[in-house]
Amino acid sequence: MTDTEDFLTATRTFYDTVAEDYADHFRNPLADRPLERALLAAYAELVGPDRPVADLGCGPGAVTAHLASLGLSVSGLDLSESMLTVARREYPALRFEQGSMLELPLEDGSLAGVVSWYSSIHTPVAELPRLLAEFHRVLAPGGHLLLAFQTGDEPLRLAQPWGRPVTLDFERRRPEFMAGLLADGGFVLRSSTVRAQDTALGETADQAFLLARKTG
Ligand SMILES: C[S@@+](CC[C@H](N)C(=O)[O-])C[C@H]1O[C@@H](n2cnc3c(N)ncnc32)[C@H](O)[C@@H]1O
Repeated sequence: MTDTEDFLTATRTFYDTVAEDYADHFRNPLADRPLERALLAAYAELVGPDRPVADLGCGPGAVTAHLASLGLSVSGLDLSESMLTVARREYPALRFEQGSMLELPLEDGSLAGVVSWYSSIHTPVAELPRLLAEFHRVLAPGGHLLLAFQTGDEPLRLAQPWGRPVTLDFERRRPEFMAGLLADGGFVLRSSTVRAQDTALGETADQAFLLARKTG
């Protein structure tokens, strides 16, 4: 088994195990996050109504559904079948499919937008250029990318969440490091936003949101 398969297997196993707990805990993840809603609204306006967008690493689908409510033609993709079971149950009108962000079942240049909302955080740093290259491949020239992630230098190791027998690292990254990878990968950074951590929401890091555009 390669390292790539190792981290994908670990990620899939983790989320297959905690999918229902995660969905209960994050049932309405944008409710107390007005800045995130504003950024998603700006993103939807930049992409434009009815344009094809993929929410990659969509988990239980709440952000996918929010993007759909903003007028985007959005579908979700995730590694974890159990997460997708929740997403399809909660949002039966939307399309969700299983797959890896590192090998997307999508044609070159077929999307106006890619959203990776806290889903790049399980990809090892060495694989990030490959991940961004895949986002770049499926976006049309001028297409919009939105990344959300926790900031920092050290991963947070989550062991036995909700009493389940799984452990996974949640990587934290510096926004300027991710911005550099985006520039190297053929994206132009349009906005970098860092929101201070909100302990009332259970956060233990500042939150970063990068908006970039595929050149051309
Ligand atoms: C922290 S959760 C975020 C879920 C959702 N975006 C949200 O904000 O609620 C990370 C999700 O990314 C998915 N994921 C991680 N790596 C992935 C990959 N390589 N391909 C597809 N999905 C992936 C996981 O299965 C999980 O559902």
